Amino acid sequence: MRIAVIGLGKLGAPLAAVMASKGHDVLGIDINPSAVGLLNDGLAPVEEPGLQALVSASRERLRATTEVAAAAECDVTILLVPTPSDERGAFTNRYLLAALEEVGRGLAGRDAYHVVVVGSTVMPGSCDAQLAPTLERASGRRIGDDLGLCFSPEFIALGNVIRDMLEPDMVLIGESDPRAGDVLEQVYRGVCENDPPFRHMSLVNAELTKIAVNTYVTMKISYANALADMCDRLPGADVEAVTDALGLDTRIGRKYLRGAIAYGGPCFPRDNKAFAVLARDLGAEPFLAEATDAVNVAQTDRLARAVQARLKEGDAVGILGLAYKPDTGLIEESAGMALARALGEAGYDVHIYDPIATAAAASALGATARPATSVAELLERSDVVVIATPWPEFSDLPLDSLRRDGGRKVVIDCWRLISDEAYADSIDIVRLGQALAVSSRV
Ligand SMILES: NC(=O)c1ccc[n+]([C@@H]2O[C@H](COP(=O)([O-])OP(=O)(O)OC[C@H]3O[C@@H](n4cnc5c(N)ncnc54)[C@H](O)[C@@H]3O)[C@@H](O)[C@H]2O)c1
Repeated sequence: MRIAVIGLGKLGAPLAAVMASKGHDVLGIDINPSAVGLLNDGLAPVEEPGLQALVSASRERLRATTEVAAAAECDVTILLVPTPSDERGAFTNRYLLAALEEVGRGLAGRDAYHVVVVGSTVMPGSCDAQLAPTLERASGRRIGDDLGLCFSPEFIALGNVIRDMLEPDMVLIGESDPRAGDVLEQVYRGVCENDPPFRHMSLVNAELTKIAVNTYVTMKISYANALADMCDRLPGADVEAVTDALGLDTRIGRKYLRGAIAYGGPCFPRDNKAFAVLARDLGAEPFLAEATDAVNVAQTDRLARAVQARLKEGDAVGILGLAYKPDTGLIEESAGMALARALGEAGYDVHIYDPIATAAAASALGATARPATSVAELLERSDVVVIATPWPEFSDLPLDSLRRDGGRKVVIDCWRLISDEAYADSIDIVRLGQALAVSSRV
C-alpha cells in the first residue's frame, strides 16, 4: 500500500521506517526541510535505537517531501504532528488543522478511496468537532463515502519505539466507519510481528482510551512513589519488598509499580494534565488525575530534602542522569532536571552528567549547574551524588573516584541500582524508599 506519514519526528520517523521495512511504499512528509533532506539521504531524522538500520535497509521504499498535499497520492495518510499543550494543559490542534487543510487540498478533485489517520494525541472530541469538518471542507469530500477518518495512537516508549511498533500490546482503531477501520487494520496486520488484539471503536472512545492509558500508568507510578515516601519515613520499611509483593496480585500487576522518583518526558505529565482538564470541562471529577500530578510534583521536594539533609556547608552535589529515562537524550520534565533546578536556585554548587543529555541539560540550566564529561569526573567533584536516571552504567560506579581521604561521600540511589557488597565499605549509600536515616526525616 502507499502510505504517507506526516510529521517525521520522534514517532513519525520510526513509523515511516517500520512501514517501509514491511514492504509499504512510504512517503514521509514534514514542513521541516532538514528532516526531509536527511530521510532522502538515507539518514534517520531523529535519534532512536534501531532507526538508522531500518532507514538504511528500506531506502528504496522510503521517500520524503515538504509538500504536505502530496499525501493525496497515497492510499493512507497518517498524521504524527505535534499537539502542544495550552496554558491550561489541554492539547491544541493547530498543527493538525494546518496539515489537514493541505491534505484536504490535495484530495480535492481526486476520487480514489483514501483513509486519513490521526496518530497525534488529541483532546477527546477533537476528531468529531474539529478535524473531520476541516478535512471535509478542505477536500470537498464527505467522510464515509470515498474518504475515511481514523484515530489510531501509538503506544510506545521512547528508546523502544521500533520494538513497540512491531509488537504492540494492542492496536486501537477509532473509526468514522467500518471500511476506514478495516483498511487500517489490514495495514497494521502486515506490520505487527506479534498478532496483537485489535479494538475498533468510535473516534471519541479511541481518543479517550489513549489518554486513559497514560493516566492510569502515571497513577500507578504516583501510587508507588507515595508508598516510597512512607517507606522513607517508616523505620525498617523497604518499598521494593512492598511493591514486589503488591505486583504479584494479578489485579494490580508489576509494571510501573516501582517506588522511586518523579515521572517525566514529553507524554506522561501532559497526558495526565489533559485528562484532568477534560474531566473539569465535562463537570466530572478531576481529582484522581490531579492527585497523581500533585504526588509527582512533590517528588522533587522529597528528593531535594534527602539531598539537603546530607549536604554540609560548601559541599558540592552531583546529579547522575538528566534524561527523563535511559536510552533517550530527552530532558523534558525529567526528575534530574527538576532537582538540578531546585538545588541551583537554592544556591548549591551543582554538577551534572548524563551519558547522552549532558549538553542539552547544561544549556537549559545555564550557570546554575556545571557539566562533567564523565561519571568519574562528576564523582570526583561531588560530596553528595544523586543517581536520578537508572542508566545501567550507573550501577557500576568507578570506586577510585568515590574514595577520598577523611569523610565518606554519600550516594543517593533513587533507583536502588548499586549493591552494598561492592560499595558499602567506601561510601554511604542512601536508597530512596528504604527507611532513610533519621536526619533526613522532615
Ligand atoms: N513522543 C512520544 O513519546 C509520543 C508518544 C505518544 C504520542 N505522542 C504524540 O504524537 C504526536 C507527535 O509527537 P512527536 O514526539 O513525534 O513530535 P515531534 O515534535 O518529535 O515531531 C513532530 C514533527 O511534525 C512536524 N510538523 C509540524 N507541523 C507540521 C505540519 N503542519 N505538516 C507536516 N509536518 C509538521 C515537525 O516539523 C516535526 O518534525 C504528538 O501529538 C504527541 O503527543 C508522542
